[in-house]
Amino acid sequence: MSPEKPRVVVTRRLPEAVEAELSSRFDAALNADDAQMDRAALARAFAEADAVLCTVGDRIDAAAIGSAPRAKMVATFSVGTNHIDLDAARAAGLRVSSTPGVLTDATADIAMSLILMAMRRCGEGERMVRAGEWHGWTPTQLLGRDPTGATLGIVGMGRIGRATAARAHHGFGMKILYANRSEVDPGMPAERRELHELMAEADVISVHAPASAENRNLISAELIARMKPEAYLVNTARGDVVDEPALIAALQAGRIAGAGLDVFVEEPKVPQALRALENVVLLPHLGSATRATREAMGMKCVANLDAFFAGRELPEPVV
Ligand code: DGY
Repeated sequence: MSPEKPRVVVTRRLPEAVEAELSSRFDAALNADDAQMDRAALARAFAEADAVLCTVGDRIDAAAIGSAPRAKMVATFSVGTNHIDLDAARAAGLRVSSTPGVLTDATADIAMSLILMAMRRCGEGERMVRAGEWHGWTPTQLLGRDPTGATLGIVGMGRIGRATAARAHHGFGMKILYANRSEVDPGMPAERRELHELMAEADVISVHAPASAENRNLISAELIARMKPEAYLVNTARGDVVDEPALIAALQAGRIAGAGLDVFVEEPKVPQALRALENVVLLPHLGSATRATREAMGMKCVANLDAFFAGRELPEPVV
């Protein structure tokens, strides 16, 4: 008789190939109707399964994990882990894995898209056409700023920050400044600055610092106040790395030119004040949303679960 397969609860629908792989290797409880699991369902998953495969939309805290979970592993379908209380996971003896590396290009592409869309006022133009309010080409309509040759400030030079810098520099001739704990490879065409200097010098700022207690409101009201009036802020990292109310106030007052946001403090809620602003491009956390990237993320989860149940070291350990 073959041994029973480990039970893995999967909190959302995943690409077909990933679900097939999960079902072939594990006793996988797939979420066929793709409904967000409520708190009670999550707690049941930890109590009854051997592992949980979660996403950034699930809040994995001490209450969900419980004091004596049957589950001993959480594989998150993300590179970010701010939706998981890692201390509670440690305390409950859980291992945690993530999916770094495979979403670098997709996320940098969205950062670059937001930089271009914000500076070239594409959101305003798109809304104008859809609303039937475009009455013909004029020489002064929706004039934006040239990304080409502008100065881009990268906050956080991890994988995604570096990939965004490369796109901006090689594709658009942008001058790159960065703020980071450590110096990056001196061969990179980028100059290091203190964060407050970068905020004052850049024409567009792209945020790539991970969410953490230390980074909450890293882009503070004081730093936003240092931005040039013609500058833009782009965020593809996590909403709470930026002081969202301070950003909204600066946009409303016209103290900065605009913003491009893929992430928000309380997703999926997006403040009405932001939605009302013309000079903001808003995306629904699309950073990693390509078919190939999501499949690769899923396969990373499979590899981590496989390693865990085979007693091997996790390929992408967080805890
Ligand atoms: C992540 O992986 O952390 C992204 O935000 C979602 O893909």
